[in-house]
Amino acid sequence: MAIELAPLDIVARADDLRRIQDLTMPVPPDTARQRLSWQLTYADRPGFAAFGATDTDAGPVPETDARPLVGFIFGDTSRPGSWWDNHVRPAAEEFGNAEVLDEALEIVELHVDPAHQGRGIGRALLKRLMTGRDEPWAVLTVIAGNHRAWGLYTSLGFTEMSKPFLFTGHDQPYLLMGRPLPLPAAG
Ligand SMILES: CC(C)(COP(=O)(O)OP(=O)(O)OC[C@H]1O[C@@H](n2cnc3c(N)ncnc32)[C@H](O)[C@@H]1OP(=O)(O)O)[C@@H](O)C(=O)NCCC(=O)NCCS
Repeated sequence: MAIELAPLDIVARADDLRRIQDLTMPVPPDTARQRLSWQLTYADRPGFAAFGATDTDAGPVPETDARPLVGFIFGDTSRPGSWWDNHVRPAAEEFGNAEVLDEALEIVELHVDPAHQGRGIGRALLKRLMTGRDEPWAVLTVIAGNHRAWGLYTSLGFTEMSKPFLFTGHDQPYLLMGRPLPLPAAG
């Protein structure tokens, strides 16, 4: 199987985003619709970037000329005062890390189709998104106990930058993680 990474139009590929997230993080249909419509609001933001991984050995999706997506990532320049920032900043302040949030690449979503996990796609997507950015830090939040994602992030130099904290409406605690940019030349 050959995997190709390319910039991703998340609005045009919204069905693919929904399909993959239904596999990786299933939620009730109404919540899935809300999640997707919120995610699509990112597309117009100035610092936004998205990349998709496709299987070049697979045929195109019926009625399109696009190959099926097997994973995607997107991120944005952090925005002090946003809903996300208002939750994360107090937790980062406790760790003395809040200033990092003033200008950072905020990694918003990373999902790999379970049938294609463990093949380096998540790692490749993360490295691609973090390459060529102007922000001095990359940050993300991860559910405490998501060992697979945590292992991937720590192997790429991310460290924990907060104690566990809760987002409004979520009952699972999250951690803030971050690493300085740019990535070293060798990755
Ligand atoms: C997290 C996720 C994106 C990883 O994608 P992936 O393509 O499977 O990851 P990769 O194959 O690139 O990297 C796997 C790395 O994760 C880590 N990892 C894998 N399984 C692990 C486990 N059971 N425990 C700890 N670390 C693990 C390792 O560092 C591994 O690196 P290695 O291949 O050098 O050993 C994928 O599992 C996923 O989509 N999960 C569901 C959605 C999710 O949790 N997204 C992140 C939200 S913060």
